[in-house]
Amino acid sequence: MNSNKSSISTIVYMAIAFCTLQLSAQTYAKNGMVVSSNYLSSKTGVAILKKGGNAIDAAIATAFSLTVTLPSAGNIGGGGFIVFMNSEGKATTIDFREKAPLAATNDMYLNREGNLINGLNHMSVKAIGVPGTVAGLYLAHQKYGTLSWAELVQPAVDQAKNGFPFNWSLYEAAGRFTKEENKNSFMNSYFRDESGEVLQPNELWKQPQLAKTLALIRDKGKNGFYKGEVAKKIDQWMKENGGIITKKDLKKYKAIERQPIKGTYKGYEIYSMPPPSSGGVALVEMMNLMELANFDTIEFNSKEYVHLVAEAMRRAFADRAEHLGDPDFNLEMPLGKLTSKEFAKKRFQEIDMTRASVSDSTKFGQLYDGESTTHLSVMDKDGNAVSFTYTLEYSYGSQMGSPELGFIFNNEMGDFNPQSGITKSNGQIGTTPNLVAPEKRMLSSMTPTIVSKDGKPYLVIGSPGGRTIINTVFQTVFNVLEFNMRIDNAIEALKIHHQWLPDQIVYEKHLLSPDTRKSLEAMGHTLRERNNLGALMGITFDSEKRFLRAHRIRHNPIVARPGIDSMLKRLFTPRELTK
Ligand code: GLY
Repeated sequence: MNSNKSSISTIVYMAIAFCTLQLSAQTYAKNGMVVSSNYLSSKTGVAILKKGGNAIDAAIATAFSLTVTLPSAGNIGGGGFIVFMNSEGKATTIDFREKAPLAATNDMYLNREGNLINGLNHMSVKAIGVPGTVAGLYLAHQKYGTLSWAELVQPAVDQAKNGFPFNWSLYEAAGRFTKEENKNSFMNSYFRDESGEVLQPNELWKQPQLAKTLALIRDKGKNGFYKGEVAKKIDQWMKENGGIITKKDLKKYKAIERQPIKGTYKGYEIYSMPPPSSGGVALVEMMNLMELANFDTIEFNSKEYVHLVAEAMRRAFADRAEHLGDPDFNLEMPLGKLTSKEFAKKRFQEIDMTRASVSDSTKFGQLYDGESTTHLSVMDKDGNAVSFTYTLEYSYGSQMGSPELGFIFNNEMGDFNPQSGITKSNGQIGTTPNLVAPEKRMLSSMTPTIVSKDGKPYLVIGSPGGRTIINTVFQTVFNVLEFNMRIDNAIEALKIHHQWLPDQIVYEKHLLSPDTRKSLEAMGHTLRERNNLGALMGITFDSEKRFLRAHRIRHNPIVARPGIDSMLKRLFTPRELTK
């Protein structure tokens, strides 16, 4: 995958980012762009581009930096996926999803009566999967990076060692984790300075233990995490805390390069993540369904439109639940069928444009997964593109970690189906492909995606948001490809989410008028309003004008999540006045 030199001569790079407190923004650039959830981390990626690094180099440096600046989701203790397309339009993916430990069993979350022990698969030491991030970044670098590994890790070491201004989002989290009832937890000490005081906004937050761990990774590469001192300390911490991950698990972990899922839409090519993510398959299935509809007669956001989009989602999520899991354990997954145009025709014919279908929980189910994940999109001056999503599962993952190592472990085991054969309309699923097994990867919803036009990267997109990721990425890609929306408009357009079960359309506040709501209900849909779906981060490349345009969602002031409004006020109150 060789890069191609472009004729772009102007040296303009852009870093854009949002934190949960900032408003959205559109940004343009000529020679490269990094969009992530933290401004300092995006700037770190841009500095790598300016040094001559390519999109992979910049994504790796940004990801390491997010471990420091955005510990709710940025990580070395979790896992994720990279979709990479070079300037020639050749795409590949890197899977660094967490794995179940060797000692995991498919009844590990059940009591003697065979019932699920509440919370054990989500918030306990047994919810921690074998982390994949360092192995994934290392593999990406070995195969496609250009600068030295040490140059890419060093900025994160510096940020952890020298500190960076504690922001309001971290301050808000610190308030939660330092409550009296959490006084013995890892997270209680996490946001404190050397004297044990909880950090205040704008104070420098130094993380010396994390800096040491990152320095070992910088110096020893992947082995700095999976072998030696760090592996030994993880093993020891697990033993002391009832966990089951061992040195052997860490030594055996491998990131894997996989063929992307490929689809087409009216001349565009779509490349996204294959299993163990369900994102690519579901995205392509839904795009194929939409290709069969006539949008000259179905108006954007009309009742027919919302119905059709919801029915497409219902079907893709039902198929996801029935068929998808770790490809190394499910050798017969019908990926070709699910992403084929013929299958879409059959599925499309089942849609009654006047009535909602009914999701049947006795046949299939759907998956658990958390809301806290983070995405970054990168394009470099040569037109190479990276779409990168990684996660700890919940916000701050398991909320556990070794104080000696300074990073947070994931709780990704919660993405497995916890109880074989038990599928409930509330969302618990029991289908076979995603049951727990030693060394198996749990199914994900992350949907890092790159669309090419005329054989070159055109749109780079992804989002956090648990199961909603698939649908927010789908609607954004669809808005760009079908309605030719600019990336900022496509991202800002209010969205819906249907995940087969629970059988309901979740819609962003203000999307549906009272009349549309009534009509959809009359068709048999159940509706639920929600303030916000997803946090998309995308880049498009205008090949004619030869510039990059980026946009990051969005905590739209009119639909901000509860609590965000007051934080916005604080953010936009000049710091001097708050002193
Ligand atoms: N834990 C979120 C996901 O992988 O989809």
